[in-house]
Amino acid sequence: MTPAAACRVWAEQLTKACASCIVLRRPVVLEETPSTQDAPETRGAVAGTFVTAWRQTAGRGRFGRSWADTAEAGVAVTFVVDAQPSERLALAAAVAAAQACESALGSSVGIKWPNDVVVDARKVAGVLIERRGAVAAVGIGINVLQHEFPEELAMRATSLALVAHARGEAPRLQRLDRLEVLVELVRALDAALCASDETLVGAFLARDALRGTRALFATPDGPVEGEVRSVDPMRGLVVRTERGERFLPAHSTSVAEWGGRVVRALGSIDPATRFDLK
Ligand code: BTN
Repeated sequence: MTPAAACRVWAEQLTKACASCIVLRRPVVLEETPSTQDAPETRGAVAGTFVTAWRQTAGRGRFGRSWADTAEAGVAVTFVVDAQPSERLALAAAVAAAQACESALGSSVGIKWPNDVVVDARKVAGVLIERRGAVAAVGIGINVLQHEFPEELAMRATSLALVAHARGEAPRLQRLDRLEVLVELVRALDAALCASDETLVGAFLARDALRGTRALFATPDGPVEGEVRSVDPMRGLVVRTERGERFLPAHSTSVAEWGGRVVRALGSIDPATRFDLK
C-alpha cells in the first residue's frame, strides 16, 4: 500500500474510533511532516483535533532533545486539548500511552515519572506537553515496530516489537500494527482526559517505575540523589538521601539520572519551562 492509500485507511479508522470519544473528535492524518507538534494543522487547530503522520522525520522531545524519525515504525501524534495544569496533562498522557502499549503487548509496562513509558528501564514511549494559550499540544511518540535503534539510543530505547520478541511472544510480534496502537491510544487518552485525578493517580501508581529505585534529580537547590520512597505524580516525590528524607515538588524537579543513565543535564530548572511550556 502506498503511504497516501495508508493515510486514507488511517483517517477512516480514526474517524470511526473517535465517534465514541468525548474530547478527541477530529483526526488529521498527514503523509509526512517534520514534527506533528509544529504542523500547520496542529498550530491552527481547535481543541479536540489530533494530528498524526505516517512518517515524522524530525520530532522534538523534552528539554530540546530530538525524537528519532518514526520512518514506518513509530507512532507520532499531537493532541490539541483545552489547557489544564501540566501535571494533570502529563499524567493523563502517560497513563494513556502506557495503556496503549499494554494492550498491544498483553502485559504490563512501567511509567517513569513524570511521563516516560518504560520496559526494563528502556523507554518505549515519550510525551511532550506545550501550552499554547487556551490550548495545549500533547505530543506522544510510541516506538512500535523498530527492530534496532541508533547506537546512542540503543541502551535507553526499546519498541513494542523488541519487547514482544524478548518476551518470546511471536504471535503478538506478528500482529503488531501502528494503526491499532494509535486507535488504542486515542481511546485511552479520551478516557484519561475525562477521568478524575484520583483514578489517574491510581493508574500511575500501579505502573510507577521510580519507586524503590535510586535516581539523581535536578532541583532548584541543586542535585539531589537518593532512593525514591514515593511518587505523587501531581505533587512531588519523597526521596531518601544520605541526609534524610526530602520532598521534591513536581513542578520544579526533573530526573537527571536513572537506571545508571543520564536522562538530562543537571542544572536548576525554571518552573516556567518545567514541561517545556511555551
Ligand atoms: C520525550 O520523551 O522527550 C518526548 C517525546 C515526544 C515525541 C512526540 S512524537 C509526536 C510529537 N511530535 C513531536 O515532534 N514530538 C512529539
